[in-house]
Amino acid sequence: MSTNPLLKNGPGSIELPRSASPVVKANQLLYAHFERPDLEKAERYLIDFGLEVAARTESELFMRGTGSAPYIYRATRGRNARFLGIGLSVPKAEDLETLAGKLGSRVEGADGPGGGSVVHLRDPEGVAVHVHHGFIPSEPLPVRPQILHNAPSQTVRVNDTQRPKLEPPQVTKLGHLVLETPDFNRSVRWYMDAFGFIPSDVMCLADGTPVGSFTRLDRGNEPSDHHTIFVAMGMESNVDHVAFEVVDLDAVEMGQQVLMAKRYRHAWGVGRHLLGSQIFDYWRDPWGQKHEHYADGDLFDAAQPAGYHLMDRGGLYQWGPDLPDDFIDTRMTPGRLWRVLKLAIKDKARVKLLVALKNSMTNPGRHWQR
Ligand SMILES: [Fe+2]
Repeated sequence: MSTNPLLKNGPGSIELPRSASPVVKANQLLYAHFERPDLEKAERYLIDFGLEVAARTESELFMRGTGSAPYIYRATRGRNARFLGIGLSVPKAEDLETLAGKLGSRVEGADGPGGGSVVHLRDPEGVAVHVHHGFIPSEPLPVRPQILHNAPSQTVRVNDTQRPKLEPPQVTKLGHLVLETPDFNRSVRWYMDAFGFIPSDVMCLADGTPVGSFTRLDRGNEPSDHHTIFVAMGMESNVDHVAFEVVDLDAVEMGQQVLMAKRYRHAWGVGRHLLGSQIFDYWRDPWGQKHEHYADGDLFDAAQPAGYHLMDRGGLYQWGPDLPDDFIDTRMTPGRLWRVLKLAIKDKARVKLLVALKNSMTNPGRHWQR
């Protein structure tokens, strides 16, 4: 565990230690679950984005990637367009019993493709967390070969051209999602203590107070994506975006072409993140929910210590277009104002943190934007 270099700057600074003995260690992020008023529209968007239908009923839509997860996206027909929860998996059947016993739930049969058993939990903000084991993996789908690049140091293509077909990029898996929570410490500790998530990079205010953390699965020596869940302080419980892996930069760019041609709303990209290093491109579904295509992310094993960084706009990307103002939704809606006023009565310190966070995220990300 590395130390927080911002500690010296303020008395309120703390570190974010790993959980000493998590209840279990989750080994995979399986799916994101949304409620959608129009499943046909949701399906069209997700196919254009690069997912494939795994199963479909009148009220449920299950979409998959090319990997072995039976589904990576679930949409349930309902009145609202809202985020419902996530699916994780654990390596052992006993893990489900342990979770059910310690967190007050029970082991049940899972209803989606793949079957198996599941424990239904809620995180501290009420987000549903479905923990699976024993599902039957799907047969992976054939992945189109990556484009080979000529380079000054290597010639791989002579008398041949580079003209990939204009079609949605194949999504290989659900890589990560970003959860916003009004109580960062409580939420991030819950995920670390229940499932063994370990911090990869911790985002702090200028005085060193952590307000966000990229966390990854603890798979021991086996490398794991830099982040599977990014927990960040926000004005309300929400999912900022869900992110899906594609094979390479060309697939990210091809995704942009297809989604542009279909007139969906672009959010940000193409660029390369700083923390996690992914090449990214963000698009909004018909309800405004951000979905990210990414490629070439960092992989850390369990030995890699946490990094500590200032939370600001500039730290979100190494290169790419300027971060659009509407990418991070900091609008003060009547509902949010009401929540902040209620919070101001019972927890002034947290309101101060929220204001400091908002200020930190509204500073321009690049000097030419000042
Ligand atoms: Fe992301």
